[in-house]
Amino acid sequence: MAPRRPGLGVPRCGLLSVVLRLCLSFNVDVKNSMTFSGPVEDLFGYTVQQYENEEGKWVLIGSPLAGQPRNRTGDVYKCPVGRGEALPCVKLDLPVNTSIPNVTEVKENMTFGATLVTNPKGGFLACGPLYAYRCGHLHYTTGICADVSPAFQVVNSIAPVQECGTQLDIVIVLDGSNSIYPWDSVTAFLNNLLERMDIGPKQTQVGIVQYGENVTHEFNLNTYASTEDVLLAANRIVQRGGRQTMTALGIDTARRRSWRPGAPAGASRR
Ligand SMILES: *[C@@H]1O[C@H](CO)[C@@H](O)[C@H](O)[C@H]1NC(C)=O
Ligand SMILES: *[C@@H]1O[C@H](CO)[C@@H](O)[C@H](O)[C@H]1NC(C)=O
Ligand SMILES: *[C@@H]1O[C@H](CO)[C@@H](O)[C@H](O)[C@H]1NC(C)=O
Ligand SMILES: *[C@@H]1O[C@H](CO)[C@@H](O)[C@H](O)[C@H]1NC(C)=O
Ligand SMILES: *[C@@H]1O[C@H](CO)[C@@H](O)[C@H](O)[C@H]1NC(C)=O
Repeated sequence: MAPRRPGLGVPRCGLLSVVLRLCLSFNVDVKNSMTFSGPVEDLFGYTVQQYENEEGKWVLIGSPLAGQPRNRTGDVYKCPVGRGEALPCVKLDLPVNTSIPNVTEVKENMTFGATLVTNPKGGFLACGPLYAYRCGHLHYTTGICADVSPAFQVVNSIAPVQECGTQLDIVIVLDGSNSIYPWDSVTAFLNNLLERMDIGPKQTQVGIVQYGENVTHEFNLNTYASTEDVLLAANRIVQRGGRQTMTALGIDTARRRSWRPGAPAGASRR
């Protein structure tokens, strides 16, 4: 629901110079090695690619936490190679143009540059696996990739973004049998889930089914028309108990609810 925190490990050669990464392999020219340095807290060197275009040779270096602390999107650096003198690496600022139109984007923490692949036909692909977009209060983390031209321009951005579903039907199927204890944890789960939803007749609708020994409709998809009312009703749900756990029947009952035609349906069991 919310974007996950980046689960990136520290590169194996902890130190921030890229040459150390290369030194794990043994065909590196140790005498004339080049070192490219960048901020270790940005994970500079997380990805490395050799690259060549009309201007000459480069090493591309991904830095998936670049932009700290305010604007941590990640980015890719180009580091010139074989120009005779040691020139500094230059940040490409690719996230600015890595964009999908008509969605509310969450680029912060998207770890751009965590994936870096050169294209044999020229240019390269750089991705931010934790790119997300927002629909109402919900974040959908899809990831994004930028197709970058040989001249370091973003020519295309690719992400599996869908139009924000204006209608979504969700039936939550609660296990209320005796084995569930304490019930407070179920209520907390419901609060946490429901308070982020935009519930209404034209938006998300939520129904709740509880099962144990018997199956109970706590409320139907169209019973309540606002997030507040659904939250109140969810907090009033008491554990029905029962020595049997009729999971299949509970899910089957949810499946038979009157879903709105055209609304993508979701059922979740807790
Ligand atoms: C963060 O970066 C984006 C472009 O990547 C820019 O439009 C925005 O102004 C920046 N925000 C801050 C607070 O620097
Ligand atoms: C974005 O939205 C505008 C206005 O709703 C529309 O004219 C345009 O075609 C949309 N662009 C894309 C790429 O969907
Ligand atoms: C990005 O990460 C920082 C540090 O972990 C966190 O404080 C911030 O809320 C995150 N931003 C988003 C939009 O997830
Ligand atoms: C981003 O797009 C603008 C407008 O097309 C262009 O001037 C700029 O060079 C681009 N920057 C990158 C890093 O692609
Ligand atoms: C389940 O339904 C039966 C028949 O209506 C009833 O006798 C029983 O008490 C119910 N069990 C629970 C736990 O509510």
